[in-house]
Amino acid sequence: MDISFRIRRYNPEAGRPKPYWQEFALNDVEPTQRVLELLHRVKWEQDGTLAFRRSCSSGICGSDAMRINGRNALACKLLARDVGPKIQVEPILGLRVIKDLIVDMEPFLAHYRQVLPWFVNDGPLPADGRERLQTQEDKDLVTDSTNCILCAACTTSCPSFWANGEYVGPAAIVQAHRFLFDTRDTGDDARLEALGAPDGVWRCRTIFNCTPACPRGIEVTRAIGEVKLAVRKGATAGIIDPATIKQQH
Ligand code: SF4
Ligand code: F3S
Ligand code: FES
Repeated sequence: MDISFRIRRYNPEAGRPKPYWQEFALNDVEPTQRVLELLHRVKWEQDGTLAFRRSCSSGICGSDAMRINGRNALACKLLARDVGPKIQVEPILGLRVIKDLIVDMEPFLAHYRQVLPWFVNDGPLPADGRERLQTQEDKDLVTDSTNCILCAACTTSCPSFWANGEYVGPAAIVQAHRFLFDTRDTGDDARLEALGAPDGVWRCRTIFNCTPACPRGIEVTRAIGEVKLAVRKGATAGIIDPATIKQQH
């Protein structure tokens, strides 16, 4: 199949201070080729200055999230036949564009760090000195959220995040969920404090863009709902400032 590619370009260092669209034609594309392979073809055959991130090509590293025909997706997971002969590609929204399809991920990662996305438990190890085990039922509580690859497709499809980049965002909340609901973890108080803050979980207005944007099929909005409930319980129990639950309005 023949593909007409429309790509959002931006390269202030090359004397183009404003973003612009550039068209490329690709012939003899296999319908099963992925959008990432097509971007490689443009770069290798037509314009070596085209900039985009990618690493694994297998939907694992999360580095090639971009807006493809108006929807966030991983370029390495979308097949040409599923997108059609006209493909428009632009950077994910809400983060500063550095060059072409590459955005500054630092604000996104700063929100990630805000929720203490690591295992906390300073208690003694089990007597046999082995790892802290959990039951299958306990693991099931966090299995969905452990699938997150931090691609940012959810956060950058969220209108609340577009309106306010200080909002911690759905990706960070999913990461918080992964540890909040881990029955072996003891770091909930500090995490709930961060999530109950003014730009925490209550900035989510349940708009639901995040769930269909997730390339890992994570039920992002459900996870956010569970975290909201945990923050509310934390406030009721006096673990965090009760005023935080008023911020939901
Ligand atoms: Fe990406 Fe899904 Fe994780 Fe959001 S929840 S960062 S969309 S993998
Ligand atoms: Fe945004 Fe998803 Fe909430 S799109 S408002 S984080 S449900
Ligand atoms: Fe790693 Fe697409 S290149 S997820």
